[in-house]
Amino acid sequence: MKPAAPPRTYRVKSFGCQMNVYDGERMGELLAERGIAPASEGEEADLVILNTCHIREKAQEKVYSDIGRLVAAGKEKGKAPLIAVAGCVAQAEGEEIMARAPAVSIVVGPQAYHRLPEMLDKAEKGERATDTDMPAIAKFDALPARRKRGPSAFLTVQEGCDKFCTYCVVPYTRGAEISRPFKDLVAEAHKLVEAGAKEITLLGQNVNAWAGEDERGRPVGLGGLIRMLARIDGLARIRYTTSHPNDMDDDLIAAHGEVEKLMPYLHLPVQAGNDRILKAMNRQHTAEGYLRLIERFRAARPDIALSGDFIVGFPGETEAEFADTLSIVDAVRYAACFSFKYSPRPGTPAAALENQIAPEVMDDRLQRLQARIGQHQLAFNRASVGTRCEVLVERKGRHPGQWLGKSPWLQSVWIEGEAAIGDLVAVELAEAGPNSLKGLPIY
Ligand code: SAH
Ligand code: SF4
Ligand code: F3S
Repeated sequence: MKPAAPPRTYRVKSFGCQMNVYDGERMGELLAERGIAPASEGEEADLVILNTCHIREKAQEKVYSDIGRLVAAGKEKGKAPLIAVAGCVAQAEGEEIMARAPAVSIVVGPQAYHRLPEMLDKAEKGERATDTDMPAIAKFDALPARRKRGPSAFLTVQEGCDKFCTYCVVPYTRGAEISRPFKDLVAEAHKLVEAGAKEITLLGQNVNAWAGEDERGRPVGLGGLIRMLARIDGLARIRYTTSHPNDMDDDLIAAHGEVEKLMPYLHLPVQAGNDRILKAMNRQHTAEGYLRLIERFRAARPDIALSGDFIVGFPGETEAEFADTLSIVDAVRYAACFSFKYSPRPGTPAAALENQIAPEVMDDRLQRLQARIGQHQLAFNRASVGTRCEVLVERKGRHPGQWLGKSPWLQSVWIEGEAAIGDLVAVELAEAGPNSLKGLPIY
C-alpha cells in the first residue's frame, strides 16, 4: 500500500451495544492525544474507524457495505480515507477482512485498541496492521484521561462473558469475564463527573458479575461499587447494564431500595419463556426462577421498571414454546424490550443444530412479540401520566425551547420551557405515547 498522509480528522462509527459506544469514545481520546480531531458534521474524515458488531448476521454485513461505500466515495473525490475496522467483527474475522477488503489498513479487536497509535504509525508508512490479541485488562491502563462529554456517560466496569449461551458470539469476541479494579473505577467516575457527567451508566456484558475489593481490601460486588459511587458529589444518577439473572446478589437488590441515586430501572434479559428452550440456549435459569428474581427487585423498589431482550425462532422452537415467551412478557409487564430473530452465528453450538426455523415463521413470531411488547410499553407510559419526576435534559428538540431528556425509568420525555443540556428539570408527566412522553415543567 502507498504511504498515507497523517490523518488530521477522524470519525468513529460505532455499531452494536453501549460498550462499543464507550470503546469508540476512548478511541477518540487516544486520537485526540495524537492531535487528530473529530471531523465536523458533514465533513469527510481522514481516518474512519468502523467499530463493528458481530451479534447478528445483519450487523456483520454492515461492515462490508460500509467499506464499499467509503471506497466509492473516496474514488469519486480522489481522496480515500484511512479505514480501520475495530470491534467484534474485527475480533472474529480479522484475517478475512484483510483478505476481502484491501482498502482496510487497520484491524483492531476490542481488547487491543489501546495500541491504535502504533498501528497508525504503520499505516502511515503504507503497511497494514492487525491486532486481535486479548491481553486481560491491559487496555484500560494504557488509555488517556476522559474528556468532556454530555450529561450522561458510560463507564465499562466489567467486560467479557463466561456464560456461553449457545447462540451467542460475545464470549468469543470479548473474551473471558474480567472486572476492572474498584479504585480505577472510582477514579474514572470522578473524572467523568468533573467533566460534566450527571449520570453514569456502568457497563458490562455481565455487569452484575463485577467483583472487586474496596478501599479497605474487603470483597465487594456491584452493589458495593454503586454505594461508593453514589457518594460522589455532582453525580445525580447511576444505572447499570446488562445483568445476567444468575449473577444477582442480595446486596445489589437491596441497593435499589437504599441508594437514592440508583435509578429504578433494571435491564434483565431472559431471551425466552420456555424452560426447554432456555435449557437449549444454556441460559442456566428457568422462567419461574427469573420471575421470582424480579419479585425480589419489586419488593425492594416497587416502582422499578423492567426491560429485557428476547430471541424468537431459536432452533426447534415450537408454536407452544413461543407462546410461553408471550406469557412471560405478560407476566413481567416490561417497560421496554429489545427483540430479535434468531441469527445463526458461525462457531456457536446453536448454529449447528438441525431444526432451524423458517424465516417466515420467525417474521410472524417477531411481529406478534413486538405487538405484545408495545402494548405493555404504552401501558407503562400511560400509567406514569400524572406523576412527578425529574428529567435529565440530554439534547435540544427540533423547535426552539423544546428539550429531550430521560425520566428515572429511562422514558424519553419532551419538555418545553427554560432549560439547558445537563439540567435536572422537575416535571409532571402528561400525554404518553409508546416511545415518549410529554413533561410539564414545575416551576
Ligand atoms: N449479555 C449481553 C448480551 C449481549 S447481546 C449483554 O447483555 O450485553 C444482546 C442481545 O442480543 C442478547 O441479549 C440477545 O437477545 C441478542 N442475541 C445474541 N445473540 C443472538 C443471535 N445469535 N441471534 C439473535 N439475537 C441474539
Ligand atoms: Fe451472550 Fe449469554 Fe454472555 Fe449475554 S450472557 S453475552 S447472551 S453468552
Ligand atoms: Fe455486538 Fe460485540 Fe456488543 S458483538 S453487541 S458489539 S459485545
